[in-house]
Amino acid sequence: MRLTRRPGFVQAVFFSPLQGKSLAQENFMNPAAVAPSSRANQLFSRLQEARARSEQLFQVVRPSALYDRPVPERHRIIFYLGHLEAFDWNLLREPLGLSSFDPDFDKLFAFGIDPVEGGLPTDQSRDWPAIDRIRDYNKRLRDLLDAAILGCGDKDANLARLEGGRLLEVAIEHRLMHAETLCYMLHQLPVGRKFSQSIPRELPAPARGLRRVGIPAGTATLGLPRREDGPFGWDNEFEELRVEVPAFAIDAYNVTNGDYLRFVQEGGYENRALWSDAAWEWITSHEHRYPSFWISDGNSWRYRTMFAEIPLPLDWPVYVSHDEASAYARWAGKELPSEAEWHRAAYGTRGGAEREYPWGAEAPTSRRGNFDFERWDPVAVGSYPEGSSDFGVTDLVGNGWEWTRTPFAPFPGFHPFPFYPGYSANFFDGKHFVMKGGSPRTAACMLRRSFRNWFQPHYPYVYAKFRCVEH
Ligand SMILES: [Fe+2]
Repeated sequence: MRLTRRPGFVQAVFFSPLQGKSLAQENFMNPAAVAPSSRANQLFSRLQEARARSEQLFQVVRPSALYDRPVPERHRIIFYLGHLEAFDWNLLREPLGLSSFDPDFDKLFAFGIDPVEGGLPTDQSRDWPAIDRIRDYNKRLRDLLDAAILGCGDKDANLARLEGGRLLEVAIEHRLMHAETLCYMLHQLPVGRKFSQSIPRELPAPARGLRRVGIPAGTATLGLPRREDGPFGWDNEFEELRVEVPAFAIDAYNVTNGDYLRFVQEGGYENRALWSDAAWEWITSHEHRYPSFWISDGNSWRYRTMFAEIPLPLDWPVYVSHDEASAYARWAGKELPSEAEWHRAAYGTRGGAEREYPWGAEAPTSRRGNFDFERWDPVAVGSYPEGSSDFGVTDLVGNGWEWTRTPFAPFPGFHPFPFYPGYSANFFDGKHFVMKGGSPRTAACMLRRSFRNWFQPHYPYVYAKFRCVEH
């Protein structure tokens, strides 16, 4: 069994309107242009917002379910209650000159898991500490961290110890990633094990136009240039990489549950030719015959939302694993887009310039897509026409991550973070694929163009959709 990176990619969620400047706006602000103590205040405020989101997510879980393991490949929910705080503590403690007061907990809650060889964790709920002990540990370390960051001494000097604030950015985004991936776990928890939350109203059913868009040849700029005063990015986002992309055609809309139902009904899961060897082994050994968000109900299909079971919503994007998306694309005589093609369709323009977001330079708002914790579930494809790219491709950012056919690998010039060397490098193994875009539970700050997400090809619980390309 391997340790996993990121939080996320093993992990959690929150809720609540952001206050003041959006995360995205802050993230792209030039740190050098902000007075240090002001920047310390901003980062501290963002850390508090992220903590509020994680706290609210744990409130979704009924107390009797906190030691459940909704996803066999992941830790029990209780682990994440300690992990979100232990990660911050392990990252920030030494730079701030603080000493450990519970080394056993520091280690127990240090890392999530992401087994790639099929081994599953075997621990029992009794193996984990009592909730009160974990909450005491969390409170004590938060008090110490907060005092060291802002509560005493010279804020500027404190910030300097944290690499000018970069370590706080890591703590914030790590927590927000868990805010999303913990949601994947809680989605699999039976409805009766959760407290329902308010659901925003449905959006009007969209009219769908042209379904296939031609993208002319052009340049796609991936990644970020490495600059001392540049915006925050994780190690795998550096350095900038310009790719010349030949012309191709791409689906303007994501593949829907309705589209995918045809694939299921026409025997897609029984057609060996559509699946790689590893994918076939996985779906047959797990008797996986339809998307994990679907429920087979005799002759009809239902769908598992976060807090209910509903008739299969045919116009929502289908959430599937990379293996399933690839098999569908093969069945349709198409392919998944490469990471560079996806960039080109999302950020390229007919004039040749590239945009920060598919819709332009404006920071993400609820008019542009389904993201930043506004909803718990997807909406019908094409519901956000104001979020379309210049080429008219819809829903590229939000409503579910998008699978690419590109294995997760470093860009030229990659250097791991010295304080978190395994965040990306542990996953450059050809067994993970890049996802782009964002889901309903992706924080606005991680909707930036350079952000890369990745998962194993058969992990079926991710909020990941797809579209196809033709060459
Ligand atoms: Fe983590």
